Amino acid sequence: FVGELVDREKRHLNYLRVSITDRCNLRCLYCAPEGRIPKLNHDDILSYEEILRLVRIGIRLGIRKIRITGGEPLVRKGAVDLLRRLVALRELEDVSLTTNGVLLASKAQEIYDAGVRRINISLDSLVPEKFAQITGYDRFEQVWAGIERAREIGFSPIKINVVAMRGINDDEILDFGRLSINRPFHIRFIEYMPIGNSRTNSRDQILTPEIQNKISMLGDLIPVENHCHDGPARRYRLAGALGEIGFISALSQHFCSRCNRLRLTADGKLRACLLSDRHEPLKELLRGGASDEALAEIFRIAVRQKAARHHLALNGSPTVNDQMQGIGG
Ligand code: GTP
Ligand code: 5AD
Ligand code: SF4
Repeated sequence: FVGELVDREKRHLNYLRVSITDRCNLRCLYCAPEGRIPKLNHDDILSYEEILRLVRIGIRLGIRKIRITGGEPLVRKGAVDLLRRLVALRELEDVSLTTNGVLLASKAQEIYDAGVRRINISLDSLVPEKFAQITGYDRFEQVWAGIERAREIGFSPIKINVVAMRGINDDEILDFGRLSINRPFHIRFIEYMPIGNSRTNSRDQILTPEIQNKISMLGDLIPVENHCHDGPARRYRLAGALGEIGFISALSQHFCSRCNRLRLTADGKLRACLLSDRHEPLKELLRGGASDEALAEIFRIAVRQKAARHHLALNGSPTVNDQMQGIGG
């Protein structure tokens, strides 16, 4: 079989985000729930062989971009080998990684040598104490060293994800904006999305217009042209800046009509929309000896059922039940 994954809205789904673990070495307010987090067992998560088989099937259905996510992908042993094996798949035009940066300083060179060039790093505060308050760990210096290392090695673009939260990091919006002037980083302000039982709620949410107003104190935001499959961020640049500023506004200005994404969760489910709990189980079929064609059919079913848009509203309902850690954002 060969083909393309086109949904009812005529969106071409050519981008697969793959969560390789639900485990993480941080406990961010907006992601991790209160108390102990139940972890998946080793057998519950897909092996790298299983992931590669599903990716090859995806490729025959037109998948051209892969992003590896988590939890924190770099805590899983062999993550860089997986990246190398993905880069070696000639049909893929892009293999990228989203990481919290904690292990990046030591692994960046290996990741670059594996052939990865695009990397997205979460960083919600530039103040070490606040970083610790948001993530639960005093690891700001480690993450910053990882980001600097990635820059020295030559990753490009380096995107920095900032989930903006009222009363928590909203006093740092201008500092992040200035960072985009001095360094070649794409700083993206992300609206908090109510996913799983995190410790953030919609009252803490800051919407893009408010951040955009604040940032304009640094100068005009000059729009940067979006390429057709450029992802959810609306991109801008401050005059003379080395980097960019972006806004990912899933709630105030959703980007579903441009969506080109499917998600493979750490426990082997195919999810057609981040913000809908609907999913198709793949793991059981895969382990039950299903043919490539039968697995391809699951991709097609998921795509046929992809909703035109998400239905989360600004008042914080409904919410997504599954935890972010196993979906990967
Ligand atoms: P590229 O466009 O490939 O660089 O990736 P990205 O910016 O989408 O990826 P990243 O993993 O850095 O995610 C940034 C933020 O966007 C996270 O908060 C994600 O949860 C969110 N996000 C990514 N894709 C989608 C999507 O399709 N829908 C929604 N609602 N949010 C998304
Ligand atoms: N809302 C918005 N973004 C989130 N992320 C994690 N949880 C949420 C949430 N509830 C972001 C992280 C990471 C990316 C993969 O998703 O900051 O950078
Ligand atoms: Fe795509 Fe769902 Fe995100 Fe909308 S909310 S952009 S449909 S994944």
